[in-house]
Amino acid sequence: MFLNGSSDIVHLRQSPDFRLSVNTLLRNGILPTNGDLQAQTEALASQLKQDSVVEEIFAGRGVIHFRVSRNLLVQKVLEQLCQERHKFGVKSELFDGLKKGTTVVEFSSPNIAKKFHAGHLRSTIIGNFIANLKESLGNNVIRVNYLGDWGMQFGLLGAGFQLFGCQEKLKKNPLQHLFDVYVQVNKEAENNEVIGQAAREFFRRLEQQEHQALLLWKQFREITVEEYQQVYKRLGVHFDIYSGESFHQQQAQEVVQQLQRRGLLKTTEKGTGVVDLSSAGDMSSYSTVLRSDGTSLYITRDLAAAIDRKERYNFDEMIYVTDKSQGIHFQQLFQILLAMGHSWAERCQHVPFGLVQGMKTRLGEVVFLEDVLDEARARMLRNMSQSKTTKEMVYPEDTAEKVGISALIVQDFKGPLGSDYKFDWDRILQAQGDTGVFLQYTHARLCSLIHRYGDGEEGAFDPSLLLDQRSISILQHLLRHLAASAHRELPVKGSPQAVAQARLRLFGGVCTVLANGMKILGITPVEKM
Ligand code: ARG
Repeated sequence: MFLNGSSDIVHLRQSPDFRLSVNTLLRNGILPTNGDLQAQTEALASQLKQDSVVEEIFAGRGVIHFRVSRNLLVQKVLEQLCQERHKFGVKSELFDGLKKGTTVVEFSSPNIAKKFHAGHLRSTIIGNFIANLKESLGNNVIRVNYLGDWGMQFGLLGAGFQLFGCQEKLKKNPLQHLFDVYVQVNKEAENNEVIGQAAREFFRRLEQQEHQALLLWKQFREITVEEYQQVYKRLGVHFDIYSGESFHQQQAQEVVQQLQRRGLLKTTEKGTGVVDLSSAGDMSSYSTVLRSDGTSLYITRDLAAAIDRKERYNFDEMIYVTDKSQGIHFQQLFQILLAMGHSWAERCQHVPFGLVQGMKTRLGEVVFLEDVLDEARARMLRNMSQSKTTKEMVYPEDTAEKVGISALIVQDFKGPLGSDYKFDWDRILQAQGDTGVFLQYTHARLCSLIHRYGDGEEGAFDPSLLLDQRSISILQHLLRHLAASAHRELPVKGSPQAVAQARLRLFGGVCTVLANGMKILGITPVEKM
C-alpha cells in the first residue's frame, strides 16, 4: 500500500524503495530534537524491524532507507494484474473513497451546414477522453453534443435550399450538399438584397414554428446527425444526447423573463437586453442576452440549456470543452447563472484548449471530419504498405484507420492543452518517438509475442526470475500506470522455459496496462500492424 503513497516525509523514488526523512520529522516536531541528527537517525533505524515486505532498513545521511522485497513486488503486481485485467489501474479500490456523481460532458458540438474545423476535432478528442476518464473513475457520465442548429444561418440555409437545393443530392451526400448550398447562398446574398430578405423571412417562419419551414429544418438536422454518427463511430466516440441550440429556443425566452423578475435585465438605448456583470454596477462589463427584435442569442440559449440540463440530469458537475476563444463566453455564462441564484454553476467548468492552424488534406482545406479521418487512413496505409505484416493482413485499411486515428489523438495530447500548434501530417504519423504509431506498435508487438508463446498465465511462475533491474523497473511503471517495453533486453525466445514463462507473464501484464490506458485516451488498440 505504501507503494502508492508519497508525501513530504516519505519519498518514493525510481526504485520500489522509499526513504524517511528524519530531518523533516524533527523539523515538524514529530520527533523530539535531542542531539546529533546522524546519531538519532541511526538509533531510529536500528529500532525498526524488517519483515516480508520491507527486506532491508538502513540509515543514510539524515534519512532512513527501506528496501521493498522484489519478490513480493513481482508477485503482487502480476497477481493483481491477472485478477483485475481490464480494470487494473483503472478501477482500483483507491478510488472507492472518492465521491462519485453524475457528470455531464459537453463536447464536439459542430454547426450544421458549416465546416467541422480543427477546433471541433480537438473538442471531440479531448471531451471523449475526459468522459472516458470520469467514467473509469466510477462516475455516471452523460455525453452531450450541443449542435449549432439554430440562428439566422438557418434562415439563409432554408432560403438557399429553396433556390439551389436538390433533395437527391441532399440524400446522397448531405453534409457536402448543405455546405455547398450555404456557401453559395452566402455569396449571392452579398450583392442581392432579395436573398437577405428571403433569409430573414425564412428564419421568422422557423421562429414561429411554421410547419413547412420546420419540416425542412428538421430534415437538415436529422440527416446531419445520422451522418455524424457514422463518422464519430469511426473515431470510437458516441453521445448519449444530440441536443442543440434549437432545443432551448423557447426556454431562452423564459430565462429572459426570470432575469427580468430578478431585476438583472437592463434595456439599453438601442433596445437590446443586457445583464450588467461589473462589480461596481457601472456596465463596464456586460453581456447581451436579447436582441432589439426580441430574439435570443448564443448565450441566452446556453443559459436555458444549462438550467434545463440541471433539471433533467441533476448533475454534480458539468464540463464544456471548446477552444479558448470561448473563454469569456463561458465565464459570463457561469456568472449569470450564479447571479440568478443557481449555485450549482460553481460546479460547471469550461475546459479550454489552444487553436490549431493548417489542418489540410491533399484536397485542400479540411471541411468535414470524414476528410481528416480518410486522410489519416490513406497516409497510414501508405506508410504501412512496405511491411510484411501489412501484406498478410486481411483488412489493412482497418488497421491503418485505427493507427492513423491514434496518431491524431496522441499528437493532440502531446503539448500543453492551452497551447496553439501547427498541424503537420508528417510529424503526426511518425513511427518513432512519443507518437500514436509507436504506441500501437509497442502494443501490437506484445500481442504478437503473446499469440506466439502464450501469456504465461497458465500455471505458476517463478517471481525470482524477474528480479533483474529491467523487469523491476517495468513493474514499477505498471504500478504507476505507465508502460515501457523491453523485448530486446528480456527475450522470451531462446530463454529457458521457466524464464520465458515468467517474462510472458510480465509482458501480458504490460500489454493489458497499455491497452487500458489507450482506451481511456480514446484509442482502439490494434493487435497487428
Ligand atoms: N457550436 C459551437 C461552435 O462551433 C460550440 C458550442 C459550444 N458549447 C456551448 N454550450 N456553447 O463554436
